[in-house]
Amino acid sequence: MIGSATGARIGITGLGTNVPEKVMTNDEMAHFVDTSDEWIRERTGIRERRIATQEEALSDIALPAAREALAEAGVAPSEIDLLICATLTPDMIFPTTSALMADTLGMPNAAAYDLLAGCTGFMYAITQAYGMLASGLSKKALVVGGDLLSKILDWDDRSTVVLFGDGAGAVVMEPVSAGGFLGFDLGADGSGGIHLCFPGSGSRHFDDPKSVLKMNGREVFKFATRVMVSSAEAVLEQCGRTIDEVDVYVPHQANKRIIDYAVGKLGIAPERAVVNVDRFGNTSSGSIPLALADARAEGRLTDGALVLMTGMGAGLTWGSALIEWSSSA
Ligand code: ACO
Repeated sequence: MIGSATGARIGITGLGTNVPEKVMTNDEMAHFVDTSDEWIRERTGIRERRIATQEEALSDIALPAAREALAEAGVAPSEIDLLICATLTPDMIFPTTSALMADTLGMPNAAAYDLLAGCTGFMYAITQAYGMLASGLSKKALVVGGDLLSKILDWDDRSTVVLFGDGAGAVVMEPVSAGGFLGFDLGADGSGGIHLCFPGSGSRHFDDPKSVLKMNGREVFKFATRVMVSSAEAVLEQCGRTIDEVDVYVPHQANKRIIDYAVGKLGIAPERAVVNVDRFGNTSSGSIPLALADARAEGRLTDGALVLMTGMGAGLTWGSALIEWSSSA
């Protein structure tokens, strides 16, 4: 699916993030599996990641992010009429984490549902929220993206456990008077789904009783380098914009090598890309809002800045959005 945002102007007026307190360095990782700080840094760019405690669930990590986003937007929880939570690791499959969060936050008027699109979940969720807001069905939406992938990893598998971290972000989306979203590109290719999967997590029976995330890293790497470029180029072309006009490039933070490849192929100046995979690892649905927050902290999300976001992940899925930043309603 690809399209220009031709409806009402919709922007992001509030942004919040939160990560677990516990930092796990690469050296600490080496206590669990046969790996080294050098291997992880060279192959992925990751130095450390945050890991939730046994007691912490996604909503515990996502709620502070949601409150921060609401406060920044100056929006009361009761004004939110749509809450979408993109995640692979909800508190439980049902009730949904979005329904639990809407209750805790005090959002009696909100439709609330979880959305599952792998690490592309946040991109899918903001696209859906745009559609509901631009059509007038929703007036103010809260979009949450977050994952505690540490809960579904095989802590004996060095090829996956070193890559991921826990974290969440949230944005308030509503009509804005200038700028706003310009277009979206979303896609899925289930033929490659087996390369990144969580067997035994649903109704399909598997003989292996160990229900953990499984990944064919090389296949996902090939897929990622392809779609990170093609999806970004597609949305730019759709919106009649060029890569030279992009002020801030926010790629999914899976691996520094994938980001470097995309930066080179797209031909964007490296300093325009946001990189925080070194501090957080791959936080899946939390990755893009966490990177947006870093861009904001560096003063890069100024009004009028052209921001390109691209995600990819399980499904296999991909998605891009182009937005002209404008922080006030
Ligand atoms: N420490 C040390 N050695 C390791 C580790 C580790 N943590 N992991 C793997 N190795 C070994 C392998 O066993 C292999 O050894 P061998 O040659 O003796 O068999 C060797 O390192 C090389 O393995 P490769 O898989 O070829 O390493 P590669 O350079 O491809 O890097 C990686 C692996 C980092 C997983 C890379 O393929 C990658 O980043 N893939 C994309 C992953 C990704 O983006 N996933 C997120 C998707 S988003 C979502 O929806 C969740």
